[in-house]
Amino acid sequence: MKNGEMEVLFSREMIDRRVRELADRISLEYEGTEPLVVGVLKGAFVFMADLVRHLHVPCGIDFIRVASYGSGSTSSGKVRIGKDIETPISGRDVLIVEDIVDTGLTLSSLVKILRERHPASIRVCAFLDKRERRQVPFEADYVGFSIPDHFVVGYGLDFNEKFRFFPDVRVLKNII
Ligand code: IMP
Ligand code: MG
Repeated sequence: MKNGEMEVLFSREMIDRRVRELADRISLEYEGTEPLVVGVLKGAFVFMADLVRHLHVPCGIDFIRVASYGSGSTSSGKVRIGKDIETPISGRDVLIVEDIVDTGLTLSSLVKILRERHPASIRVCAFLDKRERRQVPFEADYVGFSIPDHFVVGYGLDFNEKFRFFPDVRVLKNII
């Protein structure tokens, strides 16, 4: 498939504006603290890099990688940690940064796992949110854009490990 066949949903300019707005809000709400920002690999790497550079509060950085139990793309409902964070979070304010909330299974599971380590607080910032796809109730504290049920790529998001490098968000059509 050629890149030209994909419709741009969010341009670089739209993304940049929205990321700054989110960073301003987060900075206000975390004023006086030094949260640990935890990026969920791999999808969140671009969004997180932009977001933290617009924060006005100091923060720590770490990454976690999760994998679903079971095979293929069908979510079994539980996740396990593929690569864990290296920072102790007991008593710390944690901000999880994720590329997209879809069924909600990944984030609800991940929040549960990290809560067991007794952080002072735990919040989630998701770049995109596909609300109509939820299988479990889950609300992110900060959301970049809510989108309808389209499969999107770029700005860190992939389809079979492809297209993460696009600087904008595009709708993947004619897959399979
Ligand atoms: P959830 O557990 O169903 O909420 O899964 C979220 C994960 O599914 C995200 O971290 C993405 O890796 C992946 N995902 C869901 N929708 C899309 C999409 O439209 N494009 C790329 N990845 C997606
Ligand atoms: Mg992902």
